[in-house]
Amino acid sequence: MARVSTVEFWEGLYAGGGDGWELGGPAPPLVDFVTTTPPPQGRVAVPGCGRGHDARFLAAQGYDVTAIDFSTAALTAARALARRDKVSVTFEQRDLFTLPQSHARAFDGVWEYTCYCAIDPRRRREYVDVLRVIVRPGGWLLGCFFPLRAQTAGPPFKVSMSEIRRMLAPAFRIERAFPPLRSVRGRQGREWMVLARRT
Ligand SMILES: C[S@@+](CC[C@H](N)C(=O)[O-])C[C@H]1O[C@@H](n2cnc3c(N)ncnc32)[C@H](O)[C@@H]1O
Repeated sequence: MARVSTVEFWEGLYAGGGDGWELGGPAPPLVDFVTTTPPPQGRVAVPGCGRGHDARFLAAQGYDVTAIDFSTAALTAARALARRDKVSVTFEQRDLFTLPQSHARAFDGVWEYTCYCAIDPRRRREYVDVLRVIVRPGGWLLGCFFPLRAQTAGPPFKVSMSEIRRMLAPAFRIERAFPPLRSVRGRQGREWMVLARRT
């Protein structure tokens, strides 16, 4: 198994200050989208949630959020932050690739951010299949895909619009796709926002 697929790899990054993805708050493209054109309320999965900033934001907006990560360091912090903010999020510490076993059609929607680019690129099709299984037909996938251009060998592993279109079809039909207006420094021009419908 590739090292990036192991929990030890990610615990090592958290322990050694290698968490360069940490924003300290919800991702601006998510905030902008949900505050202007919110997807329907319901049960939402946040795979690879890290410290849970996006999960807490979605919960504060009224969504019933389940956030998944296999790192103890990430989820310990995420739980403490949710307590601090008095928001209710269900955290599940597990390998997200096991979700289909227990969560088939369990969600009305999913928020994808920096999980797709974090996993072994050879597992992307498997990852999209996890999303297909856990989101009910007619449900939504909101994703902000990053990085459109790579600066390192990865993770994050680079993404492309054509590859994402190919990966999502036919399980998800893209309804909107656009570059977000607001990205954090270093991610401007390298992100692609997608709203897709589970077919
Ligand atoms: C690049 S970080 C992004 C975290 C968060 N989405 C953010 O934007 O702050 C990727 C996260 O995915 C988690 N992760 C990677 N592979 C996973 C897997 N197979 N199952 C569960 N979590 C995983 C890592 O532990 C890490 O917290």
